[in-house]
Amino acid sequence: MLPDPARIEEAVTLLNAGELVAFPTETVYGLGADAKNPAAIARIFAAKGRPVSHPLIVHVSGLAAAQEWIALLPDAARRLADAFWPGPLTLVLPKAAAVTAAVTGGQATVALRAPAHPVARALLAAFGSGIAAPSANRYGRISPTCAADVREELGDRVALVLDGGPCEVGLESTIVACLDGRVTLLRPGAVSRSQLRDVVGKIADADAASPRAPGRDRSHYAPRTELAVIEAGQLRSEVERSLASGERLAVLARSEAPVASDRLVWRQLGNRPAEYGRALYAALRELDRANAARIFVEGVPADESWAAIADRLGRAAAQVADGAVTDAT
Ligand code: TXA
Ligand code: MG
Repeated sequence: MLPDPARIEEAVTLLNAGELVAFPTETVYGLGADAKNPAAIARIFAAKGRPVSHPLIVHVSGLAAAQEWIALLPDAARRLADAFWPGPLTLVLPKAAAVTAAVTGGQATVALRAPAHPVARALLAAFGSGIAAPSANRYGRISPTCAADVREELGDRVALVLDGGPCEVGLESTIVACLDGRVTLLRPGAVSRSQLRDVVGKIADADAASPRAPGRDRSHYAPRTELAVIEAGQLRSEVERSLASGERLAVLARSEAPVASDRLVWRQLGNRPAEYGRALYAALRELDRANAARIFVEGVPADESWAAIADRLGRAAAQVADGAVTDAT
């Protein structure tokens, strides 16, 4: 969907007035505010119900625009931006002194991303500065992948929702920290570990010394209905057992339904990770509306191409398993 110049102009006026504007990116929809306006940023946290210590990604048009937000540009970060921007990659870098603590959660780093979606690019070009934006969902919920899902999440907490159609990637960006001479993968996404490795060599895993990011927290991206990931080989027997107990069941699977029941809602997403990832959040929302006692999700392959999906499914299930939301941004 192409940008409508009148809507972009309206969005810029609102951002300049300190209002919130939701906009499409190729990953998920973002809830945007002027990244230099602490009062506007405070509105993001209020609208999401998100703790203020969780830092936001600053969206920029590209590497040139990123410069004013950072204290230095490590060579690895330059190469990653050259390779993957605009695109589904966020870089965590040492922040410039002027960047407000409202964006960084008081950390010494800032997260930057140049999105590829034409509406996001048009908005950034017209606004001419950074736009701070988390995913446009309420705290703890599934990220929105279409304009209607943003409205369902935020209602009139957001002044304007720019409609860019359904998101092409459907999962949040890959987050990589380039700090202290190390490149660390903080959140898996459409840009895979081996694609990163091809550009910069060694990729470290997040550890206790890495910056905080959802990649290291347990629960995230959760539907309201209890969700369990079931190994493919166990799915049929678990489904039969659940139905035998009389409950209503929703299943998200790669395969076809092995049994039919009027108490079974079955959503098949297939075996291609790009298509699966694109459809995942909309499917979880749909199954969440099915009034089922629980959602079963058929496990996905351990293959790298499924890593971001496996990560999100694990976190969607963790809320129930662990009984606590620790970082559901
Ligand atoms: O695809 C995406 O990344 C979407 C679109 C809208 O760009 N945005 C998104 O934002 O997923 P959010 O806030 O829902 O998730 C970004 C995560 C946050 O959980 C935050 O902890 C982490 O990025 N983050 C932000 N700044 C950081 C920093 N300076 N250091 C470490 N992690 C950071
Ligand atoms: Mg989020």
